Amino acid sequence: MLVTGGCGFIGSNFVRLVMRKLPDCRVINLDKLTYAGNPLSLADIEHDSRYRFVKGDICDTRLVERLFSEEHIDTVVHFAAESHVDRSIAAPDEFIQTNIVGTFTLLEAARKAWLSGSPPGTQDTKRFLHVSTDEVYGSLGETGYFTETTPYDPRSPYSASKASSDHIISAYHHTYGLPTLITNCSNNYGPYQFPEKLIPLIINNARNGMELPVYGDGKNIRDWLYVVDHCEAILSVLSSGKAGETYNIGGNSEKQNIEVVQTICDILDEQTGCLPDGQPRRTLIRFVKDRPGHDRRYAIDASKISGELGWQPSVRFEEGIRRTIKWYLENPAWISSLIDGSYREYYEKMYGNR
Ligand code: NAD
Ligand code: TYD
Repeated sequence: MLVTGGCGFIGSNFVRLVMRKLPDCRVINLDKLTYAGNPLSLADIEHDSRYRFVKGDICDTRLVERLFSEEHIDTVVHFAAESHVDRSIAAPDEFIQTNIVGTFTLLEAARKAWLSGSPPGTQDTKRFLHVSTDEVYGSLGETGYFTETTPYDPRSPYSASKASSDHIISAYHHTYGLPTLITNCSNNYGPYQFPEKLIPLIINNARNGMELPVYGDGKNIRDWLYVVDHCEAILSVLSSGKAGETYNIGGNSEKQNIEVVQTICDILDEQTGCLPDGQPRRTLIRFVKDRPGHDRRYAIDASKISGELGWQPSVRFEEGIRRTIKWYLENPAWISSLIDGSYREYYEKMYGNR
């Protein structure tokens, strides 16, 4: 199995799950180690003989083709991407390159390896699963849900680049018969998430008594999905999903951002005590200038994957957020390995004058 972006948040959780649940599977993790990739996230399995880490770029055609032939890849799980909306607004270039050109490079390598000259029938065992996002569907009002047939309406450079890659994936299925699968999931949270996304950023700031920046009025809604549930869903799509199909994956846990931030404050107060001056952490909340084009609400209708494949989220938000906070409190070394000069520079640029 070739996993791209396996040193990122979801990829590292997925690789760990595969190593545990699929004892006959060898995993090749191709990751460029951008700011978001951290080999420490897989330190516990790096010496496993079934695991190989390759530092490299998914846009590097020769490298990707070499891995397909050297390792006899029959399954691709494609996570590698530039994934942060705020960064895509500040600097979209890498999003176009990695998310669109990188996906194209992987598809071409799979097409050459799997479809040209291979005996009939051997394609049946191949799978190319592309991990995408609910953000391709745009923004919802107060009601309604995204289904697999909701028209695409991406509104940030990030979601537009993911939408583009989804279309190229579908084209390779329809045109060449490549056995592709697409999953569109909602916002993930859990261990090993880089502290520039909402939940780990708030946990880290709140723990350290720093301000908690909430964009706009704090009433934007996301449908939070615990990362291990997401990884389980990917495994079920790999084993039982139908080639050419799309599956939406959601957490059934819609929350306003402000509720998420307040919940984190309250749990930290309860577990570690209030701030040194005796104040509760909610006093750290600061409403800041909104994100341009900020999507109001995302919510997934996951009835297709639950009806056809029997997958459902098993971790409720109230439980998942406690597990996540516990993990961050118990792994200060992982967090401090990331809070370096470039993180501080990023933070100052994004929040300094906000
Ligand atoms: P992440 O930013 O934490 O990790 C991305 C990983 O990809 C990093 O390890 C990085 O080093 C690697 N990478 C980036 N560019 C690369 C390149 N050119 N070549 C090789 N490796 C490269 O992302 P994540 O949160 O784990 O998301 C994984 C996937 O899931 C992405 O495709 C994202 O669009 C999608 N997704 C994420 C969420 C979420 O809530 N995190 C929600 C929906 C969809
Ligand atoms: P984020 O974690 O960046 O994910 P996405 O933009 O892909 O949904 O943000 C989640 C929500 O939290 C989104 O509505 C923006 C908001 N947000 C804040 O209010 N403050 C912050 O500092 C960050 C990073 C996000």
